[in-house]
Formats: sequence, C-alpha cells, structure tokens
Amino acid sequence: MNSIYLDHAATTPIDPQVLSVMNTVQADVFGNPSSIHSFGRQARFHLDEARHTMAQTINAQDKEIIFTSGGTEADNLALIGTALANEHKGRHIITTAIEHHATLHTAEYLEKNGFEVTYLPVDEQGLVHLDEVDKALRADTILVSVMYVNNETGVIQPVKEIASMLVDHQAFFHTDAVQAFGLIDIDVKKDGIDLLSVSAHKINGPKGIGFLYAGEDVLLETLQHGGEQERKHRGGTENMGGVAGFKTAVEIMGNTKRARSDLYEGYKTLFLEVLEEENIPFRLNGSVKTTVPTILNISFPGTQVESVLINLDLEGVAASSGSACTAGSVEPSHVLSAMYGSDDSRTTNSIRFSFGFANHEKNVADAARRTAKVMHRLMKKGGAGS
Ligand SMILES: Cc1ncc(COP(=O)(O)O)c(C=O)c1O
Repeated sequence: MNSIYLDHAATTPIDPQVLSVMNTVQADVFGNPSSIHSFGRQARFHLDEARHTMAQTINAQDKEIIFTSGGTEADNLALIGTALANEHKGRHIITTAIEHHATLHTAEYLEKNGFEVTYLPVDEQGLVHLDEVDKALRADTILVSVMYVNNETGVIQPVKEIASMLVDHQAFFHTDAVQAFGLIDIDVKKDGIDLLSVSAHKINGPKGIGFLYAGEDVLLETLQHGGEQERKHRGGTENMGGVAGFKTAVEIMGNTKRARSDLYEGYKTLFLEVLEEENIPFRLNGSVKTTVPTILNISFPGTQVESVLINLDLEGVAASSGSACTAGSVEPSHVLSAMYGSDDSRTTNSIRFSFGFANHEKNVADAARRTAKVMHRLMKKGGAGS
C-alpha cells in the first residue's frame, strides 16, 4: 500500500529543482562569502542575490533580511533580541496563547529573566481579538508578537489590524509568518510589520534555513556572537547550500502562489466531502473561511488522538496532531485548549491534515476514504476514548 503524506504543515518534501541547485552550489560555490578572493566573491554574489530575492517577496530592503537556521531561531532572535535591546523602554511583552513553541517557550524564558509577558486569549474560532490587544497594551510594552497563521488550525490572525494599532506606540510588532509565507501576500512596509519570521522547509525548501526580517529602525541585540556576518546580527559562516535552495524555493513559490492556493482549497473541500459521504461525524476546528487552504484540523468525537494517528499510519495516511508527543502519549493541544478550555474533548480527539506538493486529487480522495475506514473501525469499537 502506498503511503499518502498529509502533513505538509510539519514539513514539506523538497522540490527536485531546489535539490539540484543546492547540489550545484554546494559543489561549485565553496568559497567563504567573507573572503575577498574570487572564490569568496562568487559565494558573496549568490548570498546577495538570495537576500535580494527574500527581500522582494515581502517588500523589504536587502539589508533587513537576516538569514537564520530556520523559524525557531528567527523567533528567538526576534523576541530575545528585541527584549534585550529595548529593556530601557520597558519590560512588558504581549504574545498569544496559541503561538508555536518557538515563540511560547522563548516568551517563558524571557519571563524567567525578568520580563513580564501577557498571553492573549483567542475565541472559539481560534482568533485573537483587537480589543484584547488594546486591553493588554501598556506604556512599557516593548514588543507585540502575534503569529500570522496558526500551525495547528491554519487560522489567519488579524495581523495588519494589530500592526496598525501600534503605529503610534513604542512597541515593535513581530509576526511568526512560518505558515503564512507562500500563501498570503505580505508587504511589511504597508502592513506595519517590524519583525517577521520565515522558514524554508515549509515551502519545499531545505531544512535548517530561514530568515528574520527586522526593519532598519528596530533595535535588536545580537544573540549569536562571532564574525560580522548578517550585519553583525548573526555570526557564523553562511549556509550557502541552504541559502541557494531557499532562493529557488521562493522563486518557484512566487510563480505558483495563486494556482497552489486554489488547488489546495479544492483538496480541502474534497477531503471533507468524502468524510460526509461516508457519514463520519466530525467538527472543524477553526472555520474554513478564516483558515489557509493547506490546513484542516478536524475533531472526531469518541476517538483518541494517539489511536487515530497509529491507525491512520497503518492505513498509510501520514497526518498529525498539532500537539507534542511525549513518551508515546499526546499532550492535549495548547492551541485547542486556548480555543475551547482544557477540559474539552476536542483537545484530545483532533487531527491535523495538511496539503501540499505531495498531493493530487486522487491521493487526497484516497486518504479521506482511508480516514473514513479508520473512523468506522474506531467508532464501532467505541472504546477509543473521548
Ligand atoms: C508557526 C511556526 N513557527 C515556527 C516554526 C519553527 O520553524 P523551524 O522548524 O524552521 O525551526 C514552525 C515549524 O513547525 C511553525 O509552524
């Protein structure tokens, strides 16, 4: 039985064109971009070109792009870097209860180090409300960090509206755009975004590379000390293969954005139609209207996430819970807990299916039928928990 990959929000398969460019660059462009000889200059040329490509996608200046090892490092640099550089103006930070752990755990680290953090709640649709931002904002707030698209539910947050609330406030605005980049048009200048995190492996690029956009007026402390790379924001010889692969992935993404969105929206509809035809009881987490086309988060009443995931895997369907697995058990999702309360059974019976490059209509329909088969089996048993 062939396996069907429906976990693109976790990571995406690398595009063969990306791989081919990476191989060429790794083999042929081995100079250090900081060297002044011709080998170094050749590498520098590739690095500058890639930086320009990244900047263009979000309407930033080239010098505002800091290459990092991925989304996690970009979030760490955004939060800790801004906190340390701006603590003379205040020690209060606002974020949300539904952020990725790259942000949440960083915020908790800052709390342990004397900063005060407000975690904004969300409603049952997984949305942050502007009046909550307004209520939390204080004169000593130095940073507001709200993710663009939630990685578990796919819910799109009102990022532009939040940014516009901060125009006359000292606080910088950061958004983790790891799940939004490539699907949503972003213009950091128009949208009022000061800092923005991106990761290559979510857009069919390589793992271990991403960037942080930091506007030129953002005060940012360096966290990784060493050479003067990345305008002294991140020491260390650049990951040239990764940078080149990331650039190619971004170029492909730019040419296919609209078509991909339409395609994935179709997959989402198709998947739900099959479940309905098969009479599977389910509830959507996050309304289809406010979510990206790539992510479907579905609660299956009467089931337990671990047994569903194991049974799906046996049927050759790779999906996930958005929540963390520890020692074979799945912790209730912090995102769904924020939406419904921690006692709600949806926090432990919800599955995330995410579409992308590895899918076509036939394997999406097939995966939905296999999912229905698993649900019939588990629901008949009735013993899968709640
Ligand atoms: C919203 C979000 N932020 C940050 C990250 C971390 O990115 P990376 O895996 O590149 O460190 C992820 C990855 O799952 C994510 O979904």
